Amino acid sequence: MLKVLNVVGARPNFMKVAPIMEAMKRRTTQFTPLLVHTGQHYDKSMSAAFFRDLGLGEPEVHLEVGSASHARQTAAVMERFEPVLLREQPDWVLVVGDVNSTLACALVCVKIGIKVGHVEAGLRSRDRSMPEEINRLLTDQIADLLFTPSEDASENLLSEGIPKERIRFVGNIMIDSLRKNLQRAAASTIREDLALNTERYAVLTLHRPSNVDDPETFSRILSALEKIAVRVPVIFPIHPRTRKMIAEFGLEARLRAAEKVRMIEPLGYLDFLKLYSGACLVLTDSGGIQEETTVLGIPCVTLRETTERPITVTMGTNTVVGSNTEKIIQAALTALTSPQNKHLNIPPLWDGRTAERILDALIEYRVQ
Ligand code: UD1
Repeated sequence: MLKVLNVVGARPNFMKVAPIMEAMKRRTTQFTPLLVHTGQHYDKSMSAAFFRDLGLGEPEVHLEVGSASHARQTAAVMERFEPVLLREQPDWVLVVGDVNSTLACALVCVKIGIKVGHVEAGLRSRDRSMPEEINRLLTDQIADLLFTPSEDASENLLSEGIPKERIRFVGNIMIDSLRKNLQRAAASTIREDLALNTERYAVLTLHRPSNVDDPETFSRILSALEKIAVRVPVIFPIHPRTRKMIAEFGLEARLRAAEKVRMIEPLGYLDFLKLYSGACLVLTDSGGIQEETTVLGIPCVTLRETTERPITVTMGTNTVVGSNTEKIIQAALTALTSPQNKHLNIPPLWDGRTAERILDALIEYRVQ
């Protein structure tokens, strides 16, 4: 029996851990799973809504760290996670993705000598000004098992000198949640709630500090948005960081003046899935949404200079354009006027069975 402590902290973690927890709860003779929430995200719309939608039970442990500077937040997670680990003494800790909680918990594990696995390992944007890139690089250096979503991610790890014995190519865990919930999301009334029944529409998400913390960059993106919204309504669920910066930079009036831009609160997992799966275009600076749109065959315009998920460009529907106004408009118009390519290119092992492969690898590791 393996006791496994699964860590979640921020919004993009929940849909990665839910299928792992669920698979572990099914394989009761092999696994005792525990869930730890660091509390990096705490708003109802950023956390509780996802627990509800994804059927994640109450976490056994809540560290309640909340928001702070990177150093303070990372330190708070470490300080509060250490006694939990010492008390629980799990066989494994699983951390996912690239948020501050991921690195903080991995670091505590290796210092105590508890084995840690990193799910979604090996992604690299090669942009070290991104906090997530630092979290990815460091977590991958110290974790015992590295579960990669794509072959390019495994190659990145090998080229950094990480021994192949630590790497397992298991596929994309986010897609487990996507496949499982597509049917359930069909029942969401979000499109009716927003009166979107017949129209074509686009969806925008924006929260990277490099986009929203800099007034000039934010303004360049808004200029593109104003033009795109003339062609098609744009639904914009607003992340708390972005909302804060809109207020700070006094951009509210400008956004309200853009008639067909609909600003709404952040959505839960099922409502958001229903919303973007019906869109004719997605504009985003998120990582996961590049992958989800690839699987659903929806054109995605990524508002970043780089992507750590190149397979979404080479195989999928993603175009990476940065924050240049003209480039964004051009890419959006191309997507809006091109006929939809019905032939889906799904990357290898993005098949909804990644959680099972992770569990198998943990079991096999034990008997090695
Ligand atoms: C974090 C992750 C990022 C991920 C994103 C998804 C890191 C370094 N970044 O960025 O990779 O894509 O989550 O959302 O871990 N806030 C609230 N309520 C909340 C959470 C945040 O109001 O529930 C506000 C606070 O003002 C906070 C700010 O948003 O200071 C930023 O939150 P934080 O967790 O530090 O980073 P994100 O930008 O959300």
